[in-house]
Amino acid sequence: MSSSSTHINHPSFGNLPADRVIIFDTTLRDGEQSPGFSMNLAEKLRMAEALAALGVDVIEAGFPVASKGDFESVNQIAKHTKGAVICALARSGGAKDIAAAGEALAPAERKRIHNFISTSPLHMKYKLRMEPEAVLDLITTGNTAARNLTDDVEWSAEDGSRTDPDFLCRCVEAAIKAGATTINIPDTVGYATPEDMERIFSMLLERVPGADQVIFSAHNHNDLGLGVANTLASVRGGARQIECTINGIGERAGNAALEEIVMAIRTRHDQYPFTTGIQSESLLKVSRMLATITSFDVQPNKAIVGRNAFAHESGIHQDGVLKNAATYEIMTPESVGWSRSSLIMGKHSGRAAFRDKLKALGYGDLDDAKLNDAFARFKDLADKKKAVYDEDIVALVDDEVRDNEHIRFGTLSLTSCSGKPSTVTLSLHVDGKVVEAEATGNGPVDAAFNALRSAFPHDARLALFSVGAVTEGTDAQARTTVRLEEDGKLVDGQGADADTVVSAVRAYVHALNKLLVKRTRAEPEALTV
Ligand code: KIV
Ligand code: ZN
Repeated sequence: MSSSSTHINHPSFGNLPADRVIIFDTTLRDGEQSPGFSMNLAEKLRMAEALAALGVDVIEAGFPVASKGDFESVNQIAKHTKGAVICALARSGGAKDIAAAGEALAPAERKRIHNFISTSPLHMKYKLRMEPEAVLDLITTGNTAARNLTDDVEWSAEDGSRTDPDFLCRCVEAAIKAGATTINIPDTVGYATPEDMERIFSMLLERVPGADQVIFSAHNHNDLGLGVANTLASVRGGARQIECTINGIGERAGNAALEEIVMAIRTRHDQYPFTTGIQSESLLKVSRMLATITSFDVQPNKAIVGRNAFAHESGIHQDGVLKNAATYEIMTPESVGWSRSSLIMGKHSGRAAFRDKLKALGYGDLDDAKLNDAFARFKDLADKKKAVYDEDIVALVDDEVRDNEHIRFGTLSLTSCSGKPSTVTLSLHVDGKVVEAEATGNGPVDAAFNALRSAFPHDARLALFSVGAVTEGTDAQARTTVRLEEDGKLVDGQGADADTVVSAVRAYVHALNKLLVKRTRAEPEALTV
């Protein structure tokens, strides 16, 4: 194993112990830029607070020059989120980029400018249309400009894993000389293997003058499903910063998943003798918060945070776990935020217990009005359903935590008889005003959606409609996903309710609200360098 940058004196972290790995979260930048995962300002601020409380060291909050919205969210996070270094992305070649990053980050207690440029032959020739010497010049210009605005500067070699090793050494040397304090070598297209990544970091640490004075960073995409493995191998090679996202969201197949890396380091300390600042008991809470905000659930078998990650179906496994959990569990569910039994409350549970439960599930910031609405829905559900599980609570409060809702579901009544058209009478709250409509349709959901289109006329096309159950049993809540398409823009909405038709309408209303936000958002300027 290569030696780490022992006791490096870092501008933001001071003297870092040799075994400390910095967790750099890019959920709000690389994660947010993937299709369908965009978040509004309030949502980004909520996520940034949660990430800081989770213990991430650096939050990459956005790419300020890309759009006004990105600038504003980096600026607001810099102003309000305490505890972590706030980072903004910029192109090495863009003077405007670096100035925008510096301005957006101005209010932060600790700030980092992260500048990048492609270094692989393929990217330099076809994307940048630049000669290697010109790229080297921009590395110097970019890092010097960033260093004039903050002492904490990161430089990334985009497509670094496919870069010629000799040229990569020259680029890294130029970046260090110009003032970069963190050097990131991304596997931008998810092509590398663990062996490649370990070799690249060991090589840089061995060959580049000044390499022992900076932190090396890993940033691995998951196109071959190797993001986490490549990250752990990078640490073995000497990287001491890990770039990752909650639930592994990110461009294409995503980035390496924060929760998996942190728990791999913790569980296999024998092989990865490192520490992080992450409060692992909050991992599930933050994962669920992101899933709620983006309407993208993780798959049931997702490591650490998937619904089945600690579920034991086979009788032999269940028997083993009852005798000694270690037989089939390599970490405790509690260590990542699961409770042993998710059966929680019934119709006699009070408001205070409900509030406590919400806090434990990551919804501690609900204001009184939202809490009252969620509690009323919980009581309603508890009347209909024998057992109310954590998953039920999460599904029903999802509707209540959403911000910027112009349209809210009101009431629905349905008349349906087999072989005849169904009729739905629907009421919505549109910007606080009650709007009612009645419509018929080929079945209850069709009638409900027709009523919705009549109450709130729009041209969006229904591109996907799917229904599942939140838990098991005929009294389980239905969870519906609705995808709408308008002018090439896609949005997904989710809704849950004991009544399948109501759950479908809630999902539709959620998607419609997202579409309204999207309509008002300016598209980012095209970025070329
Ligand atoms: O994947 C990548 O190369 C990036 C850089 C901008 C760091 O996200
Ligand atoms: Zn990336």
